[in-house]
Amino acid sequence: MNRLFLLLTFLLAGVPLIAQQTTVNIDSLINHMSLKEKIGQMTQLNLTTILKDRMLEHYEEVENFEIDTAKLNYYLREWHVGSFLNGRAVSQENWYNTMHAIHSTNAKHSSIPLLYGIDHMHGASYLKNSTIFPHNMNVGCTFDTTFAYDAAWIAAYESADLGHNWIFAPVLGIGRSKIWGRFYETYSEDPYLTAKMGAASVRGTQDSTATAPYKTAACAKHFIGYSEPKSGWDRTPALIPDQELREFFLPPFRAAIDAGAKTLMINSGEINGIPVHASYDILTTMLRDELGFEGIAVTDWLDIKALEKMHYVAENEKEATFMAIKAGVDMSMVPTDTLFSHYLYELVNEGRISEERINTSVRRILKVKAEIGLFDNVLPRNDRFSRIQSDEHKAKSLQAAQESLVLMKNEEDLLPLKGKKIVLAGSTADNKAALCGGWTYRFAADGDRWFPENMPTIKDAMETTFGAKNIIHANEQNIDKKANKADVIVIATGEDEAYAETQGTIEDLHLDPEQIQLIKKAIATEKPVVLLLTEGRPRLIQKVYDDVDAALFCGLPGIYGAQAIADVLSGEVNPSGKMSFSYPKSSGHMIPYNHKRSEYSSLRPVSDELKRFSIAPFGHGVSYADFSYDKLKMDTVFTSPSDTITVSVEVTNTADVAGKEAVLWFVSDEVATITRPVKELVSFDKKMIRSGETVTFSCALIPKQDLSFPDKEGNSILEAGAFTIQVGDESQTFYYKPE
Ligand code: GLC
Repeated sequence: MNRLFLLLTFLLAGVPLIAQQTTVNIDSLINHMSLKEKIGQMTQLNLTTILKDRMLEHYEEVENFEIDTAKLNYYLREWHVGSFLNGRAVSQENWYNTMHAIHSTNAKHSSIPLLYGIDHMHGASYLKNSTIFPHNMNVGCTFDTTFAYDAAWIAAYESADLGHNWIFAPVLGIGRSKIWGRFYETYSEDPYLTAKMGAASVRGTQDSTATAPYKTAACAKHFIGYSEPKSGWDRTPALIPDQELREFFLPPFRAAIDAGAKTLMINSGEINGIPVHASYDILTTMLRDELGFEGIAVTDWLDIKALEKMHYVAENEKEATFMAIKAGVDMSMVPTDTLFSHYLYELVNEGRISEERINTSVRRILKVKAEIGLFDNVLPRNDRFSRIQSDEHKAKSLQAAQESLVLMKNEEDLLPLKGKKIVLAGSTADNKAALCGGWTYRFAADGDRWFPENMPTIKDAMETTFGAKNIIHANEQNIDKKANKADVIVIATGEDEAYAETQGTIEDLHLDPEQIQLIKKAIATEKPVVLLLTEGRPRLIQKVYDDVDAALFCGLPGIYGAQAIADVLSGEVNPSGKMSFSYPKSSGHMIPYNHKRSEYSSLRPVSDELKRFSIAPFGHGVSYADFSYDKLKMDTVFTSPSDTITVSVEVTNTADVAGKEAVLWFVSDEVATITRPVKELVSFDKKMIRSGETVTFSCALIPKQDLSFPDKEGNSILEAGAFTIQVGDESQTFYYKPE
């Protein structure tokens, strides 16, 4: 299509061609596009398809991209490709040059700008020296959506100038499969917390005040049910009853869509025997008709091919293409060939797919491109590189890390450590990758070479904080001797390496036996033992947990995580994190806090030990302060579904140190026609409470919203009866009695 036509299009549309965002007449554009051009808009290819060949031999080692313009021109000229994706952490300069080449070359072939998708999932992950935040698992433990917003806002702010206009985040899966290799990408096992965090992330990414004149599209993923593979292995079958899918897995996506998410990525897996990429019920009836989503639904990596090669529901890739388009896919992340475009072109010419169906997807794609201003601003700029890793961004990431750490136990107030000689041992003590996990500078960085030179490990941070002379390094062979010179032993353990997706597949969630052995040796010295758990999922530590004196869940706190850990150990920071998931006690009973009552049926009582399904359940977290909850106040009878149930409680800090307290409100439905969770989070809030201070926390609930639950068709059910609200150790029964 040529520029003259485009100019005419705008003039016909009466568009004033001035600095404000151009109003694009999408239908007029579509009417003048060839079928191939339309299908090109539905095609997304990986960056590797347009790099020089020599870069592909050792792609993970690439430190500077070089575009092969012949390849790029081929895909744009012959296939009208409308989107590319991915990369690795290269410099701003190299990203600028790379993206300028891509977007400016595209402008020679088409007046429709490109979407460029990238996994900046916890900060601008694929940008050298960017501000990396804690992963979502940690952000959930802050119980402060500000950090979800900040992480997304800063990721967009640091990358939008570079032509990265589509960020593949947030992950909105419910983190209930604790062994799943992508557990750390989830915010929580709870749908309400996930929904609040995910909506904040979408707003952060799409807040154009940060990136003006550019705008960035967020991507709610992976729709739906991806986070609960039955076997715990990535992309393996999920068996999720419709009612459970709607009650636990849908709310975060509804919240993200209501927050304005412009795109959504589809779950690679199958649910109840139907691959989601082939499910009209999910991708059209649920996503479009029920949730009202109008944005782009993009496949995940290779997932149309997977319908043939992984799920075996299609005889060949052409049939797979047919199934995916019929189900409701808008764009294929192919991502390394043009077979999708080829087969779709055939399917339309054979009349099996209508051109109107193609137009529906192209309209959605062009609408997003117009909404994020690509028709006005798509070329990158290189005059604001100072945006990266500003002191303000570092401070936000550090604070997120500090507030994401969960003090699981602290016997006899062992922590904070002051004026102590400390033995430090363990596999993650001197390890940068262990602090950041996957999707950090590389898909799964091997070793520490890709991390910033100046990024401290736990060892570095503790030496800085406590003085190098007070940190004694030990290992399993000498820890008993070294312990004699120390007051306390700190074991940094968990998971040593970064992993992502199927690379994170394991068969045993127990902590590595060598680490258990080291911890046992430390315990045997009879010195106090502190565990630091840096890991992407809760490795099982029951064999030693009861015998250590303190344990700090560190998760994947990001590039400032080591400093955050040292800040908590020293008392510089009072830990305020609370578990966003239930840390399992054993592999045989890994249930979430909001489990059903019949997990512990009162007809067949089980021992208290068996009732202890978690060593640190959802919402648990110890502070150096002491918070007492008193004076829960609320009315106790409500008669209308739209009543406002206002509840308040007073929280007093009785300790001599200030601290932040996340107040979590839970509701239990005492009797219902569909079995209810023992309790459900319905609200949370976090505030600083100074020593001796009393702060009032309150929440407002509405019966039709907060006391209802869906049936398997998605109808909202609100039943009369008794409910209990619980906050801290306060609770109150109240009644919904419709008039
Ligand atoms: C991967 C992931 C998805 C990511 C995409 C692009 O397979 O499942 O989360 O955004 O491919 O890298």
